[in-house]
Amino acid sequence: MLVNIDSYIPTDIKDVIFNSATEKQKIMDIVKGVMPFPFAGKNGILLYGLWGTGKTTLAQLLPDAIERVKGGVDSDYHLHKCVQGANGAVMMNKIITQAEFISMTYSGYHYFVIDEVDNLTEAAMASLKSAMNMPNTIFIITTNHIDKVERGVINRCEEIEFNAAPAEDWLPLANRILKDMKIKGVSDAALIEVIASCKGSARDILNSVVKVGVTRSRTSKRMNVIY
Ligand SMILES: Nc1ncnc2c1ncn2[C@@H]1O[C@H](COP(=O)(O)OP(=O)(O)O)[C@@H](O)[C@H]1O
Ligand SMILES: [Mg+2]
Repeated sequence: MLVNIDSYIPTDIKDVIFNSATEKQKIMDIVKGVMPFPFAGKNGILLYGLWGTGKTTLAQLLPDAIERVKGGVDSDYHLHKCVQGANGAVMMNKIITQAEFISMTYSGYHYFVIDEVDNLTEAAMASLKSAMNMPNTIFIITTNHIDKVERGVINRCEEIEFNAAPAEDWLPLANRILKDMKIKGVSDAALIEVIASCKGSARDILNSVVKVGVTRSRTSKRMNVIY
């Protein structure tokens, strides 16, 4: 049976697969209100690491989750995707204007998701640093290249590493996909091998598991014919 890969994309933070239990704990402490946030001059969360590991996905789930812990429902976050080659000045002006308005959220915070921040020019990165000093702002930032992010920006952020999670951590999801495909008999060891070869890329992992299922169903159909 065919499955829709999009239906396995996490819609809740608890379904996100993290690099490690420590990194997951840091995020869960914030969204459960165990760890105050913003706190002590840190009003950003920086998700950094390999391509395809789920940074952008999590970044877009975090604002609502943080707003909920503050008693609100909808964060009404502003999403800014940083594009390579663009100088970022227009984007930064927009962010500053948005932050100057009175926020309509319950908490009074303005939420910004800044995706792939390493694409910003040096000047735009400097204005991001000043924008982060504006009151009532929360920034969720992603990057594949933390070495290209200004120290001042990093310093205002809680850093969360997003690199390949242990392959075993993907097993429950992989087995769920195979179950939905009505495929039986694929061993965890075989799945771990396939998952590990994807180097943490969620998209590759989901596609590879589906491929394993398709191959398996083809083989078993052939076996049905033979026997
Ligand atoms: N935990 C997860 N389970 C399933 N799919 C995921 C998970 N995390 C991310 N994805 C999917 O994998 C793809 C890559 O994720 P993305 O957030 O764009 O990664 P990044 O921003 O780190 O490059 C997206 O299609 C996303 O929906
Ligand atoms: Mg991304």
